[in-house]
Amino acid sequence: MRIERRDWIFIAVVVIVLVVFIGISGKEKTTPVPNDQMHRIVYETAFRNAPAPDAPIFKRAFYKPDKKGAEAYCEPCHKEKGVQFPANHPSKNRCLFCHKLKR
Ligand code: HEC
Ligand code: HEC
Repeated sequence: MRIERRDWIFIAVVVIVLVVFIGISGKEKTTPVPNDQMHRIVYETAFRNAPAPDAPIFKRAFYKPDKKGAEAYCEPCHKEKGVQFPANHPSKNRCLFCHKLKR
């Protein structure tokens, strides 16, 4: 089979999409929320309505942890314990968009 100009354009588009995709996913290196005693309240709040492991599949598929509820605890406690934000820390609302929960 001969590879024509049109095919090369298609291949180029696929390669560009892949490169962009990998570039974006590489940025997900933000420190996750530690799953320790200190952060237990965060995990408990976020997953307090979690469906049981034997719940119907559609219930588990549509389940979302209560991230907004959990985020309410982050800043007050970090302030109280004197946890420093790095100097160039980005805008601080919605912590859990960037700092993922471990599971
Ligand atoms: C009850 C107190 C408390 C709450 C609530 C809390 N933190 Fe923390 N966090 C700490 C303390 C203390 C540290 C310092 C390191 C340690 O002792 O775990 C810390 C460290 C961290 C770190 C750095 C971890 C590392 O590996 O360097 C991240 C990221 C973090 N917290 C994110 C969050 C986010 C996001 C939330 C809210 C969803 C949150 N924390 C809620 C007390 C808290
Ligand atoms: C827009 C994304 C974003 C949001 C929102 C955000 N952070 Fe961060 N945070 C970062 C990045 C990027 C870093 C620096 C890279 C790293 O160490 O993870 C960082 C670093 C930190 C660190 C130091 C981690 C370490 O390893 O030393 C703590 C603690 C922290 N953030 C807490 C919070 C808390 C609490 C909130 C919510 C009030 C929050 N962040 C919201 C992106 C974000």
